[in-house]
Amino acid sequence: MTETSLSNTQNSFKQLKSFIGEHIIGQEKLVERMLIALLADGHMLLEGAPGLAKTRAINVLSQGIAADFHRVQFTPDLLPADLTGTEIFRPQLGTFEFQKGPLFHNLVLADEINRSPAKVQAALLEAMAERQITVGSTTYPLPKLFMVMATQNPIEQEGTYPLPEAQLDRFLLHVKIDYPHAEHEKEILHLARAEAKGEFQKHKEHFQTISQQTVLKARNEVLNIYMADSLEQYLLQLIIATRNPAAYGEDLAGWLQYGASPRASIALDRCARARAWLQQRDFVGPEDIQELAFDVLRHRLILSYEAEAEGITTDHFIKELISRVAVP
Ligand SMILES: Nc1ncnc2c1ncn2[C@@H]1O[C@H](COP(=O)(O)OP(=O)(O)O)[C@@H](O)[C@H]1O
Ligand SMILES: [Mg+2]
Repeated sequence: MTETSLSNTQNSFKQLKSFIGEHIIGQEKLVERMLIALLADGHMLLEGAPGLAKTRAINVLSQGIAADFHRVQFTPDLLPADLTGTEIFRPQLGTFEFQKGPLFHNLVLADEINRSPAKVQAALLEAMAERQITVGSTTYPLPKLFMVMATQNPIEQEGTYPLPEAQLDRFLLHVKIDYPHAEHEKEILHLARAEAKGEFQKHKEHFQTISQQTVLKARNEVLNIYMADSLEQYLLQLIIATRNPAAYGEDLAGWLQYGASPRASIALDRCARARAWLQQRDFVGPEDIQELAFDVLRHRLILSYEAEAEGITTDHFIKELISRVAVP
């Protein structure tokens, strides 16, 4: 596909990407992953140290889309009903009425998700997977465009509750970000200074927000990207290898307790397509699969105690697999 044959939707996303890039300096991978999650109709978990613009990135994305957005700050005293909604008594009518909670928005920022206890996390994870909320005997569907972006600071911090490992796979992607390069730090500083002076609003005027219709249309185009049979086979082999890593080397034998489920295959397929589409290609390449394998699999593999004791991470494991499974 050449530049001239960009579809209208691809063009809109290109503009969205550069709009976000004006506000988020030097975190290209993060920006790309947010768009992939949106295109693949999934939720994203974003992890990184405080001050790396996690909250800001998600705020900026939501400014670029004509959809309603809500931020929930997760705190130790948050209750499940603060997310889902509550039945409110109407004295005039003598009845209860359901007042929808923040999860009924299109884009939800679940900020610092590991600051709330398990019950609240469970309410969020359930809504993410089922796309509906049941209160009493009534079930309320969530909007068609529904995306949760959760942030968390690295788990070692005090006063936090780790997310339940077995339910983490409700997130399509688990993205980790790191400190910006030194040369970007200066740009960030200058941007912050310009913003403080109120000089950085001008770019927004040139940008037309993306409609929900456009997002849905783009999702459809993503599903129609071509993936060769051999690449599909490669993708499946990578996933299946997580269930029997010893087949790819004796040394990998004891690393995992649990491998990835079919949910992971579906996620990797969607995300690889979305990446190809964003890069204006009409076919998936092996690098789309390899690049996304980390963010798709990172939170779906459960390491053995032995591997953990040796300081091995799921990223190490994924890297090993990619180096051993033959590329078609
Ligand atoms: N890559 C970046 N691009 C632009 N601003 C940044 C970047 N990294 C940090 N900042 C600045 O740091 C501030 C902190 O961002 P914030 O989103 O609150 O961080 P986090 O949620 O990761 O703790 C931002 O408001 C911004 O001024
Ligand atoms: Mg934050």
